[in-house]
Amino acid sequence: SDVCSSDLTGNIKAQDILLTGLEKLEYRGYDSAGIAYFKENGKISIRKTAGKVKDLRAICDDNDATCGIGHTRWATHGGVTNANAHPHKSGSVSLIHNGIIENYHELATTYELEDRLISETDTEVAAALFDKFYDGKNPIEAIKEVIPLLKGSFAFCIMFENRPGVIYAVRNVSPMVAATSKEGSFIASDLTAFIEYSKRYFIVPEYAILTMEADKIDLQDLNGNTIEPEFLEVDWDMTAAQKEGYPTFMLKEINEQPAAINRTIMPRIKDGLPSFEEDGIPDSFFADCSDITIVACGTAMYAGMVGKTLMQDILGIPVTVAIASEFRYERPVITDKSVVIVVSQSGETIDTLEALRLAKTKTNKTLSIVNVKGSSIARESNYVLYTHAGPEIAVASTKAYTVQAAAFYLLTCKLALVQNAMSEADARAFISNLENVSDNIAEVLKLSDKVEQLTKRMLNASHTFFIGRGSDYTLSMEGALKLKEISYIHAEAYAAGELKHGTIALISEGVPVIALATQSHVYNKVISNIREVKARGAYVILLSMDEKITDATICDTHISLPKVPEQFAVFEAVVILQMIAYFTSTGKGLNADQPRNLAKSVTVE
Ligand code: F6R
Repeated sequence: SDVCSSDLTGNIKAQDILLTGLEKLEYRGYDSAGIAYFKENGKISIRKTAGKVKDLRAICDDNDATCGIGHTRWATHGGVTNANAHPHKSGSVSLIHNGIIENYHELATTYELEDRLISETDTEVAAALFDKFYDGKNPIEAIKEVIPLLKGSFAFCIMFENRPGVIYAVRNVSPMVAATSKEGSFIASDLTAFIEYSKRYFIVPEYAILTMEADKIDLQDLNGNTIEPEFLEVDWDMTAAQKEGYPTFMLKEINEQPAAINRTIMPRIKDGLPSFEEDGIPDSFFADCSDITIVACGTAMYAGMVGKTLMQDILGIPVTVAIASEFRYERPVITDKSVVIVVSQSGETIDTLEALRLAKTKTNKTLSIVNVKGSSIARESNYVLYTHAGPEIAVASTKAYTVQAAAFYLLTCKLALVQNAMSEADARAFISNLENVSDNIAEVLKLSDKVEQLTKRMLNASHTFFIGRGSDYTLSMEGALKLKEISYIHAEAYAAGELKHGTIALISEGVPVIALATQSHVYNKVISNIREVKARGAYVILLSMDEKITDATICDTHISLPKVPEQFAVFEAVVILQMIAYFTSTGKGLNADQPRNLAKSVTVE
C-alpha cells in the first residue's frame, strides 16, 4: 500500500495536525485514511476508515494526545475496506506503511503469523513481525531484527505501546522527510504535510532507524552507529501550494505555465546561448555521446517523446524513449557513451528510480530532469536539471510537462552546439524562439472560453481519438492521457497515417476526433487523414496555425494557434489539450484535481 503520513510527537495536540497534514496530502490520491495516537495510559487508540479524510474526521473524537501517526492508503494488497486501512495494530505495535512488502506471504508462513492477521494487507504482516520480535523493552532491537527480513520498499512509522511520546521510523526506497521545530517533531512522506511548521528538514537516509521525540530526532544505522542528518531548506511555502483564487489546482497550474517555463529556461540562457554551468554539467557530458535513451512514466515520458523528436531531428543520433517499468525488465542496449535522461516531476516514481539505478550500472552519463528538489531521482542521477516549476499539486500533470519539454529544448541546443550539429547563429535563433514560448502560451490561455465551449460537445462521448503526425502524434498521446485520467472518457491517440490499418473501424457518427496539424512537412498528409475520419462521421476539432479553416469537409471546429516556428508549436498546442481535458472534466462535474484510482506520487511498482 501507498502512504502519505504526517506524524507529530509534540507539545501540542496531535490529532488536528495529523488530520490537516493528511488533507494537505490529499492531492496525492488515496482511498482510505486513519490515525493512531497515544492515550494517557500509554495505550494506543486507532481511528480508521475507507473513504476520505473528512470521513475520518467524522469518527474522531476530541482528545489531548500530543503524539500520533496518520496515513492515507492507496490500495495495492487487499480491497478498500476499513480493516485494510492503516494504521495496523498487532499486539504492542501500531504502524503505518508506504510501499510494498513483497515477501509478506512467505514471512507470514515462516513466522506463523497467519492467525493474528485480520486484514488482507502486506503491512499487517510487518506489524505482526515487529511485535513478534519485540521483547516489550527494546523497540530498536526489534526493528533491527525485522528490517533485514523484509523484501520490497517501505517507509514505516511505528508506535510501541507504553512508550508514549516516541515514534520510530525506518525506510527503504519509499520517501520520508523529517524535521524538528518548536511545535514538535514531524515526519512525513511529503514535505507539504508539515511545511507550515518547518522549512528546514532532512531526507531520512535509507535504513536509518529514527527515534523521534517532541524535541529531538535521533538517527542510527542498523549497527547502532549514530548518523547525522543533512539538513535542507525549501524555497517555497504554503502559498505556492494553495489555489490562489483558482477553483482548482489544475487550472492554477495550467495558468502558471508561462512563469514556470521562464523559471526553467531563463537561468540557463547566458548571452543568448544555453548554459548548464550552474547545474554543474560539463561540456564533455554533451560531447562524448553516441546515443540517448530517455526513461520515464506517463506524462513525463510523453515530454520525453517531444524531446526525442527534437533531438533526433537536430542531432541525427539515435534517441530512444523507454517506459520505465518496461526498461527495467528488458535488456536495454546502453554503453558507456550512451546518455540516459530520466524524467520525473516528483523524483520519486519507483519505476523511474529503479530504471535509473539500472542505467547507472551501464553508464556514468545519467541526467535527470526533476521538479522536486532533493528527491531520490535527483540525488541518485549523475547530473540533475531542476525544472523549478514550483509544487504541482493536481494529480494530472500540466506545468511539469511543459517545463520538462522546455528542458529538452535547452539540452538539445547545447548538444547540437557541442556536437557541431548547429551553428552558433542558428542556436541563438533557436534560443530566442524558446524565450518567446511563455508569451505564446499566455496568448493561448486567452482561448479558454472558446475551449470550454467546444468541450460541451465532448461531455457525453464514450470514445474519443487524438490524431497527428510527428511531434503532433506525441502530443496526441499526452492529450489522450490527460482526457482519460480526469474525465474518464476513453481516449486513444493514433498516428494519423496508421488509422486506416484498423482503428478507423471505430469511427462512427459523432465520435470526437481531436486532430493536430502544426507540422508543415506532413500538413497535407494529416489533412487527408482528417478528411478520412470526417467522411465517416467524426466530429473533428482541429488545432493548427492556420488563421481560419472554413472547409466543412475538414473539421467542425477549428482552433487557430498563434503562428510560431513549427518546432515550437508543441507548447501552445499542449495547453489547448490540457484545457480540453480540464473543461471536459469540470463540465461533467468531476473533481479534476483528484481523479479516481490515481496517486500523484507513484511509489509502488
Ligand atoms: C499524468 C501524470 C502521470 C505522471 C507519472 C510520472 O497526468 O501525472 O502520468 O506523469 O506518474 O510521474 P513523475 O513525473 O512524478 O515521475
